[in-house]
Formats: sequence, C-alpha cells, structure tokens
Amino acid sequence: MRIGILGCGFIGTTIAGAIQDMDGVELIPLYDMDYDPTIDLASKIKKARTFSPDELEGFIDASDMVVEAASQEAVVGAIPLVISRGKDAMILSVGALVNDELWDGLKRGAKENGCRVLIPSGAIAGIDGISSASMADIEHITLTIRKPPSGLSLPPSLKHLGNDLKDAVEPVTLFEGSAREAVGFFPKNVNVAATVAIAGIGFDRTRVRILADPAVTRNQHQIEVRGRFGEMRIRMLNHPSTTNPRTSYMAPLSAIASIKKMISGVYVGN
Ligand SMILES: NC(=O)c1ccc[n+]([C@@H]2O[C@H](COP(=O)([O-])OP(=O)(O)OC[C@H]3O[C@@H](n4cnc5c(N)ncnc54)[C@H](O)[C@@H]3O)[C@@H](O)[C@H]2O)c1
Repeated sequence: MRIGILGCGFIGTTIAGAIQDMDGVELIPLYDMDYDPTIDLASKIKKARTFSPDELEGFIDASDMVVEAASQEAVVGAIPLVISRGKDAMILSVGALVNDELWDGLKRGAKENGCRVLIPSGAIAGIDGISSASMADIEHITLTIRKPPSGLSLPPSLKHLGNDLKDAVEPVTLFEGSAREAVGFFPKNVNVAATVAIAGIGFDRTRVRILADPAVTRNQHQIEVRGRFGEMRIRMLNHPSTTNPRTSYMAPLSAIASIKKMISGVYVGN
C-alpha cells in the first residue's frame, strides 16, 4: 500500500516513522505546503518519495491513501480531490468537517468513487463506545475541556478575561454551547469536539464546555454520554507532543493504530 502523508509536521513525521517498517507499506509519498519539512522528513525515513508544493496532484496519484495531518485548510483544499480520484483519505484536522457541504460532499464522493473517509479517534478515547452507542438512542453527550489558565490563548471575544484568569482559584467557564459553535469559537482546539460530534449525535446536539481550571496543569477532556445503552464517562489526560505543544502525542498514535488495522485486516473495537 502507498500511504501518502499530507503535512510533514509533528503528526506526519510520527506516523511516517512508525509505518516505514510495516509489512504492506510499499511507498510513503510526502507533501507539505513548505518544501523544507518534506525534504527533512524524507531524509529520516525509508520508502519516501518527495513532492514539491506545486505537485499536489502527482502526490495524490502516487498514493493509495492520503493521511491529512496538516490543517483545516488542507482538508478543504486537498481532500475533495483525493476522494474524487477514488483514493482513501484519513483526516486528522477534523474541525474542518463542521462545514456540512464539505462533509456531505466527501461522504457522497466516497460512496460514488468506491473509497473511504477515515477519521481516527485522535487525541480522545471512547470514540468506539460513542459510535456503538449511536446505533440506538443517545439522550445527551457533553464534552468538558479543562485547560490550565496559564499560557491559554484566548479568542478575541474573551481577551478581557486575561487578568481574571491569572488570579483564578476556581474554574472559569470560557464557553458553553454546541459543538458547532465551539468550532467557531476555539478553532485551534476543536478536533476532539468534531470527532465526538461525528461519532455520536452531530454538531448541533453535542454540548461542549470549555473551562480555564487552575487545578489542572495540562489539558483534560471528559466526555459524558447517556443513552439506551446506559451511561459512559471518559476522562483523558494527554501528554503533549515534544515539537508541537498544542498536539497530543495520542493523536498520531491513533492514526498509526488505524493504519495498522487497515493493513492487517484485523479490526479490534466496534
Ligand atoms: N484529530 C485530533 O485529535 C488531532 C489532535 C491534534 C492535532 N490535530 C490536527 O492535526 C493537524 C496537524 O497537527 P501537527 O501537530 O502535526 O501540526 P504541525 O504544525 O506540526 O504540522 C503541520 C504541517 O502541515 C503543513 N501544512 C499546513 N497547512 C497545509 C496545507 N494547506 N497544505 C499542505 N501542508 C500544510 C505545515 O507546513 C506543517 O509542516 C492540525 O490541523 C491539528 O489541528 C488533530
């Protein structure tokens, strides 16, 4: 299988490093909007083939599956092309899929062209349970994200809270609303909300709370689900990656696990 990496940053580099020795991986085409990360990654792994920023179509043609590990803009700009050519697409910048027209188009295109859109669990656990639960009625899903107040990058509408947060001794609610509103509000922290929404009851019914909590030293995600199946509560305390502190180490691990399932044909979970 030829597994193209779109975005040669932290996630792309970690995935490429892990899959280079997997049986069944023949070629790892590499593409990035900057050429330097592509060249740098190619020098570190086996089976690489580099493509320059103006060779997106050649990169897609050289891949059986494209793993997007770049940005929401890359999902919009490249993934419809991947699907229109009948290639599988794995998407990490899941927040882009809040755009219904894009998401519906990708699902329709995958069906028409006989390929797949894959969304790995990313930085969160429990997506298997949520998608199983969604086969019957789900009453509610709430995602609560707790962030340490120090170093928090606030959206412009909350900049006035900056000083209050420095002295906060109790959690301060920054946002409460639907997953769809959360994506617009905190565009850099939305992949987990989007993945939970797509696996479960959609962007409008999934509730999201974002708190600045002086009691936590790193981001914490908690998901509560209640439905016909019973109740579920998931809590994740992720380690950040070494090179991009905004990205959890778990995110590339989940993509690597998904690729391994595809190659081995053995699916555990769901
Ligand atoms: N699904 C999840 O749970 C999850 C978790 C963490 C990060 N992410 C997302 O994964 C993506 C990659 O994260 P990362 O930590 O590897 O980022 P990174 O900044 O380390 O690397 C991103 C790379 O993609 C390239 N890039 C950006 N836009 C591009 C475009 N339009 N076309 C081609 N290349 C482009 C950049 O030049 C960079 O080299 C981000 O969008 C991030 O939000 C998802």
